[in-house]
Amino acid sequence: MKSSSGESEKELAEVRQRIDRLRQTIREHDYYYYVLDQPRITDAEYDALMQELQELEAKYPALIVPDSPTQRVGGAPLTALGTIRHRYPLLSLANSFGESDLRDFDRRVRQGVGEAQYLVEPKIDGLTVALVYENGELISGATRGDGEVGEDVTQNLRTVRSVPLRLKEAVPRIEVRGEVFMARADFERLNQQREAQGAALFANPRNAAAGSLRQLDPRVTASRRLRAFFYQILYIETQEPAALRIDSQAKALEYLERLGFPVNPWRYHCSSVDEVIEACREGELKRDELPYEIDGMVIKVDSLAQQQQLGVTAKSPRWAIAYKFPAQQAVTRVEEIILRVGRTGVLTPTALLQPVRLAGSTVSKATLHNEDIIREKDVRIGDWVTIQKAGDVIPEVVKVLKERRTGEERVFQMPAQCPECGSRVVRLAGEAAARCTGAACPAQLREGIIHFASREAMNIEGLGPAVVAQLLKAGLIQDVADLYYLRKEDLAGLARMGEKSADNLLQALAKSKGNRLSQLIFALGIRYVGSRVARVLAEHFGSLDKLKQATYDELRQVPEVGDKIAASVVAFMQEQQNQRVMEKLEQAGVNTREKVTAPTEPQPLKDKVFVLTGTLSTLNRKEAERLIEARGGRVSSSVSKNTDYVVVGEEAGSKLEKARALISSGKAPSLQIINEEEFKRLIELPK
Ligand code: IVH
Repeated sequence: MKSSSGESEKELAEVRQRIDRLRQTIREHDYYYYVLDQPRITDAEYDALMQELQELEAKYPALIVPDSPTQRVGGAPLTALGTIRHRYPLLSLANSFGESDLRDFDRRVRQGVGEAQYLVEPKIDGLTVALVYENGELISGATRGDGEVGEDVTQNLRTVRSVPLRLKEAVPRIEVRGEVFMARADFERLNQQREAQGAALFANPRNAAAGSLRQLDPRVTASRRLRAFFYQILYIETQEPAALRIDSQAKALEYLERLGFPVNPWRYHCSSVDEVIEACREGELKRDELPYEIDGMVIKVDSLAQQQQLGVTAKSPRWAIAYKFPAQQAVTRVEEIILRVGRTGVLTPTALLQPVRLAGSTVSKATLHNEDIIREKDVRIGDWVTIQKAGDVIPEVVKVLKERRTGEERVFQMPAQCPECGSRVVRLAGEAAARCTGAACPAQLREGIIHFASREAMNIEGLGPAVVAQLLKAGLIQDVADLYYLRKEDLAGLARMGEKSADNLLQALAKSKGNRLSQLIFALGIRYVGSRVARVLAEHFGSLDKLKQATYDELRQVPEVGDKIAASVVAFMQEQQNQRVMEKLEQAGVNTREKVTAPTEPQPLKDKVFVLTGTLSTLNRKEAERLIEARGGRVSSSVSKNTDYVVVGEEAGSKLEKARALISSGKAPSLQIINEEEFKRLIELPK
């Protein structure tokens, strides 16, 4: 007997077997590499296995399954992340900062349950995720969100290689929680790449991990090398829960390991609070040697029965506490104090330091906030100082080591003129900030354009500080609107701007024209109008034109808009130069209207083209069409290179053939062939 595509059943069976074998081998090597951190084959050998699998799947697309390792590359981008309501809310942890906090915690625990054993684990500095598996298969993954409702990042999590797509045991249902993070080395590499492309840098590995996971494009996530550790089983549904004998946190971690999850091997079993304190000290000593960042240790009562007994408060469990490491400090010398001019003209004094290692990176600058703080701390040029970095903020000067003064130190003077444009510097009554009064200050202009392009504003990829400075220097732009009149020839002359980057930048600019009105309003950089107020204004006025004409009184009617904001908006709109810029933006085709908000139904399949072929067993064709259309998709009667999904039922015929031919010829890069079950999964998302 011949199958529809011409191979004999026997050949097909062999292919199927080879594909299964390849998938299994690749999964094993993923596990050695990403979970155990002990690769058994070289990268080249791994790539060869993957390539063979990809080729076979391209030739036999009907054999592609969602949990194939090839599917980790990430599917088509989404238009918005859906949401997932957590079955049990994600709690947070109470914090402790020193020995006495830990002793208090221990006392409370012992009052509740008598003697207790503890498990102490490193607190990974990443972002929390909650994954649900059914019959051993990953079915959903969500971020923490507000604890009750998180973002649906299932498609993105599927690209994270240490996240198992299928568990080693087919547990009927289990929800686990863990932390997704980026290793320091991967973070450094990513930022180097971004710097070369002129893209905005991530402040720290945690932000980079969050930006990479909370992404509309799973392919971006796939390229970012995220990792994960899991540490909690929320619930487990199985025929015989008792048989698993998970009665402690330690056993829960062992069970997670057995299922194939990456679990941090570093943990301490402690039988007294003294041992807990010791473990926390050791954690602090070890933190800099780790390839990833931790921001503390987590202390948990080990026995699950005791955990139950202790229970939870509204926000956090009584059986666990986080021990936060103190901010890390270093000693170095202030070589100079410079002023940075912000987009609103504020002059921020910044200490240039003799470079020093601190918390895993090299620090050469620290913020001094403002003139008063310099006076208060009495920081002078040439001083030896202690600096510290708390969390992910810019390092700051804690104190001056006055005993090391030689008498050569110089007192800092706020200049009377802006260092960038020479305009007068003023300090308004009641304000700590000194400001440049120059309306045409090039530094303010530069910072304003950087702000315009930033992620929360117009989100123009590839338009970072370096590129903005180049464009200004070359005289190619004078204001933000000029960005939209750049031509490829203009960009070609710039240093380090290849043809590809130029194309990408122009594309990013074109794309940003379609941004929401709120993004544009925020991007304009009106004083006191942050991204939240911008959203409120966009919703209230509906168009830039209406906002331009709004009077002070009308603005005051808007919830959340106070006196300062209303006055600032009116002043901005009256300024002739601003009016010109807005006009130029409109002429360039930048969207200045609030889009009518999407229909109440989520539209995860917006603009996706479906073709149905064969008979579906549980849906009739009309129902299927209605389901697709309700989610924003379209149904077409014939397969072409514009088709996104061919849904294959029983006795599918020539449409399936055509789809296969298109895929194997590479002519339809986004075309996928799916069966009824996969289709149902697709239309149910987001939950
Ligand atoms: S246990 C009920 N263990 O720290 C909460 N949390 O403020 C149980 N975190 O975002 C959390 N490493 O995701 C636990 N080994 C660890 C952790 C850990 C990092 C995160 C957690 C949460 C935050 C708690």
